[in-house]
Amino acid sequence: MKKQLTSIVVAGAFLLTAAPLLAGQDCSEILEKNCTSCHYKNRICQKVGKKTKRAWKNTTKRMLRYGLKLDKSELNKITDCLVALEENPGQFCK
Ligand code: HEC
Repeated sequence: MKKQLTSIVVAGAFLLTAAPLLAGQDCSEILEKNCTSCHYKNRICQKVGKKTKRAWKNTTKRMLRYGLKLDKSELNKITDCLVALEENPGQFCK
C-alpha cells in the first residue's frame, strides 16, 4: 500500500513538471496544423505582440469565414496560444 502511494505521488510530480512543456508543444503543433495551410506563419508572426487577446479572437474568427475549421474550444485554445506567443515566440515563430 505504501509503495503504491509513492508511485502515485511520483507520477503526479512528473505530470506537473511535464504539463507546461507539453502545453507549449501542443500550441505550436495546433498552430502549424491549422494556421499554415492558407498563408505562411510569417503572416502570423509579424503580428505577435501587436494584437490583444480580443484582436486575436477577431482574427481567428475571420479565418473561420475564410474556411478554417475549428470548434469553439479549439478556437479558444488557439487564441490563448497566439497571445502566449508574445511571451514565448520560440515555439512557433523561430
Ligand atoms: C482558410 C484559409 C485560412 C486559414 C486556415 C487561416 N487563415 Fe489567416 N488569413 C487568410 C487570408 C485569406 C488572409 C488575408 C486576408 C486578411 O487579412 O483578412 C489571412 C491573414 C491573416 C493574418 C494577417 C491579417 C491580420 O489580421 O493581422 C493573420 C495574423 C492571420 N491570417 C492569422 C491566422 C491564424 C492565427 C490562423 C489559424 C488559427 C489562420 N490565419 C488560418 C486565410 C486563412
